[in-house]
Amino acid sequence: MLRWGENMDKYNKIQSSYKRSKNIYDKTLTQGNFWSRLYIRLFWGGVDDVKIAEELLSFIPDDFSGRLLDVPVGTAVFTHEKYKRMKNADMICLDYSEDMLEQAKKRLPDIGLIQGDVGSLGFENESFDTVLSMNGFHAFPDKEKAFSETCRVLKKGGTFLCCFYIKGKSKITDLLVKNILSKKGWFTPPFDTEESLKARLEKMYDIKEFHIDGSMVYFYAVKK
Ligand SMILES: C[S@@+](CC[C@H](N)C(=O)[O-])C[C@H]1O[C@@H](n2cnc3c(N)ncnc32)[C@H](O)[C@@H]1O
Repeated sequence: MLRWGENMDKYNKIQSSYKRSKNIYDKTLTQGNFWSRLYIRLFWGGVDDVKIAEELLSFIPDDFSGRLLDVPVGTAVFTHEKYKRMKNADMICLDYSEDMLEQAKKRLPDIGLIQGDVGSLGFENESFDTVLSMNGFHAFPDKEKAFSETCRVLKKGGTFLCCFYIKGKSKITDLLVKNILSKKGWFTPPFDTEESLKARLEKMYDIKEFHIDGSMVYFYAVKK
């Protein structure tokens, strides 16, 4: 899907960068080879994305029986095993990149996968019990819309589970993000700091858990 208008460049850049990286994405994030371990150690202070994903997913019980939106699902590398255990959940997984969705489809053939934009979700207000967003907010092109749409579709008392990059924690990570990852389209500025994120969340949510690991934040919040 190509977009026109002011955000066209950002959306098309995201689409093509994830198309190019779909075959190396999983190994890079899960530190599945020597080069990805070196990259994570040098530029991300050795942060373990698998551990962060496990901690975040542990807030969702395996017998969860509500409606869950996962945005962006990506290739489902961190989530597919958990989702297979969640037999009673009604799940919808959404991503902007058709290439990433293609990979997710192989892992989750029985789950609803939808191509779409987090900034314009085609769901009713307050129609989900949980919204999960892993490694998405640093990639989303319009953060304001992404925060307001994920909050809009979540029920009052529903849970918002997230992890993503925040700036201001490590000079080397910030340089990498600014000079390479953002230029290539894997990340899209502007980025929150710990303070700006907390201020933003507190308007909409009660923050139950909030952790920083290197330049990554992960939190669990409940909609007011
Ligand atoms: C770093 S990946 C994270 C995927 C997965 N949650 C994970 O942790 O592996 C970021 C994803 O955000 C998706 N994305 C970027 N902009 C988006 C948007 N506006 N709406 C929905 N997905 C978007 C990209 O296509 C990409 O799959």
